[in-house]
Amino acid sequence: MERTYKITAKELRSMWLRFFESKNHAIIKNSSVVPQDDPTVLFTTAGMQPLVPYLLGEKHPQGTRLANVQTCIRTGDIDDIGDKTHCTGFEMLGSWSLGDYFKKEAIAFSFEFLTSPQWLNIPLENLAFTVFEGNADAPRDEVAATAWRSHGVKDDQLFYLPKKENWWGLETGGPCGPCSEMFIVKKPRCSAKCTPACDCGAYVEIWNDVFMEYNKTPNGLVPLEKPNIDTGMGLERALIAINGLNSVYEIDTFQNALHSLSDAVAIANEEMFRTSPEQTQLFQMRFIKQSRIILDHIRASCLIMGDMVKTVPSNSGRGYVLRRLIRRALVQARALKISPDVLLVLAGKFIEEYQDSHPHIKENRGFILIELEKEFSKFSKTLEQGVREFEKLISKKKQISGVDAFRLFDTFGFPIEITKEMARERGIEVDEQGFNVAFEEHRKKSQTANAGVNAGGMAGNDPKITNLHTATHLLLAALNKVLGKGIEQRGSNITAERLRFDFSFDRKLEKEELDKIEKLVNEQIKKGLKISFKEMTVKEAKAKGAIGIFGDKYGEIVKVYSMGDFSMELCGGPHAQNTKDLGTFKIQKEEASSSGVRRIKATLE
Ligand code: SER
Repeated sequence: MERTYKITAKELRSMWLRFFESKNHAIIKNSSVVPQDDPTVLFTTAGMQPLVPYLLGEKHPQGTRLANVQTCIRTGDIDDIGDKTHCTGFEMLGSWSLGDYFKKEAIAFSFEFLTSPQWLNIPLENLAFTVFEGNADAPRDEVAATAWRSHGVKDDQLFYLPKKENWWGLETGGPCGPCSEMFIVKKPRCSAKCTPACDCGAYVEIWNDVFMEYNKTPNGLVPLEKPNIDTGMGLERALIAINGLNSVYEIDTFQNALHSLSDAVAIANEEMFRTSPEQTQLFQMRFIKQSRIILDHIRASCLIMGDMVKTVPSNSGRGYVLRRLIRRALVQARALKISPDVLLVLAGKFIEEYQDSHPHIKENRGFILIELEKEFSKFSKTLEQGVREFEKLISKKKQISGVDAFRLFDTFGFPIEITKEMARERGIEVDEQGFNVAFEEHRKKSQTANAGVNAGGMAGNDPKITNLHTATHLLLAALNKVLGKGIEQRGSNITAERLRFDFSFDRKLEKEELDKIEKLVNEQIKKGLKISFKEMTVKEAKAKGAIGIFGDKYGEIVKVYSMGDFSMELCGGPHAQNTKDLGTFKIQKEEASSSGVRRIKATLE
């Protein structure tokens, strides 16, 4: 049966942009899900992330009022996937004031968009609002509370909540401040103490206005020269709230894939459904979570690969995250007795679903399907090994220990559910408690290992990072001069210690070539080239021969950084002022990154 929606994803995206356009906001492009100038994270996890330099005071080429729709990837809570609201990939509807208007105006915009018959038209009595209750860092937010009240918000709709609920910033630091959240009231409160922070389901979050007044640095909070507004409405969550849905899998963008999946599962299990009501009941209970994992992971994989930066499955960094998503989906497919081909059909449905809003998904269609297929065939071999390993284990013991279950998970990618399921079929027990202990230990270890990714402060705060970023531009220009034109950036990661640059090239570099590149970069450093940027349209930038990752809109204004006549590259900044500040450039390593992509690690000494 076809569902009907008050509003679809397409309509909400477009309404958001039209509203902010009518309030003189420039519409900026969706940035890559791979952060370009921020080495501190693997993926873009928040709509404001690509804007950090501007939120810290740098001038944005498109002005002081901005809005967009940004694709984000969050893999922190991958184990929550399968519940009603967590999504690995999601879209953030964002709006910003860069030192332009502040709290009162931001709240007026939010109120109008939510309640006006011209826009979302939600009755005021169905809404609730939260503001920051205050602490030692910042005062109780009476300004925001007064602003909400001025629009008719009643005291019983307005809640003062602590920092845990009403303060926003990236975990890695950078711009932050108190926030005010908006909720749709779904059902009566569970008790007199119930607030929008309660998880009883009475309130569903729809929008967050962040009043960015501080920069969080390793030395504490530093007030920003000009405060900013950063607002974000998670598209999927908002669609649940506005349409009164129960889960994210009920929103329109999931429906075509969900139908294909359900049909395939029904065909594959037809005999069991017909002959065994008991088994069918058990199967159906598990189906909900398993199908959600498949849908979420395949959709997220399509969003990751359908990007201007082409990530491929691999054994490290974001490639590994992608590999894990694909493999987890495959394991669930196996449990549902459907073939990997069905997952390709689902990917096709998502590509179709997103082709208008995400032009790179359409462009990368072939690439996505081929990479998925390659990963499927690699993994089916591993999976067979895993099944053999499982059979070996149970041939010796009548119980699977926590350590063994964890080894199946860690080495062969078997989630505990699959181990449990295979064990149940054979009447064998699994020490789940022991598995959880081993899993926790592993998580702690990998958190420590990942901490490096999050260390080093936000891009733009640390001159070591800024200098390495400038050196990265010199390196790309030098690569193009030594190896021939057409070398493109495939990835960039900078820590305070080193730069790591991935680029398109299909063979190992000779020692002489590396020497030449290093020398060329050092010559530019010695020349003391002034670094400057100009704003121009994408069309002009291309005509001038600038290199870099170009966005989607040809007429859009971009920043082009020049270093003498040596380098001209599209980039958001920030950079050093003069190449002489850089020190001595040294290539530490050249190696393969993935097929057709080489990687250089280099330092400044
Ligand atoms: N950055 C805030 C959030 O992600 C508002 O956009 O909630």
